[in-house]
Amino acid sequence: MQETIEKTREEVQRLAAVNEILERNNYDQSRLIPILQQVQEVFKYLPKDAITYVATSLDLPVAHVYGVATFYAHFTLNPKGKHIIRICDGTACHVKKSTGICEKLYEKLGLSDDNRTSSDLMFTVDIVYCLGACGLAPVMVVDDVVYGQATPELAAELVDKIRAEESAA
Ligand code: FES
Repeated sequence: MQETIEKTREEVQRLAAVNEILERNNYDQSRLIPILQQVQEVFKYLPKDAITYVATSLDLPVAHVYGVATFYAHFTLNPKGKHIIRICDGTACHVKKSTGICEKLYEKLGLSDDNRTSSDLMFTVDIVYCLGACGLAPVMVVDDVVYGQATPELAAELVDKIRAEESAA
């Protein structure tokens, strides 16, 4: 019961935040992209119901707003984890077996190509194609810290370290 109340309170706060964003942007259709950016800052992604709400509030077709949200790479329609692990699978990193790092993380975090965020929303694994540090291949970036000559073992260790830090916090 308490959990349900907390959840409802959270949803009301988020809805209020979206309303505030819409008001701040004067419900201006031409400001759709900045509005979506600001909504994404609140949710860390663009939930379907937020997209529908923005579309309705701006008097725009939902399909149009979806089109914009899916066209730009910086928008994400799926929730992201608190910690972002980027694995480079560009040519140099692929040759140096970056695939093994991905496989290890997928196995450890219960992920797949279709679902790259852990169920506890703690980790997201993003695959990227060249981070401009090919000399360090294979390259992995964990929360903006770059690791060169990365290995599956190192990836697993870093996940354990972050988990330990999170549970100590
Ligand atoms: S291919 Fe991985 S950093 Fe360039």
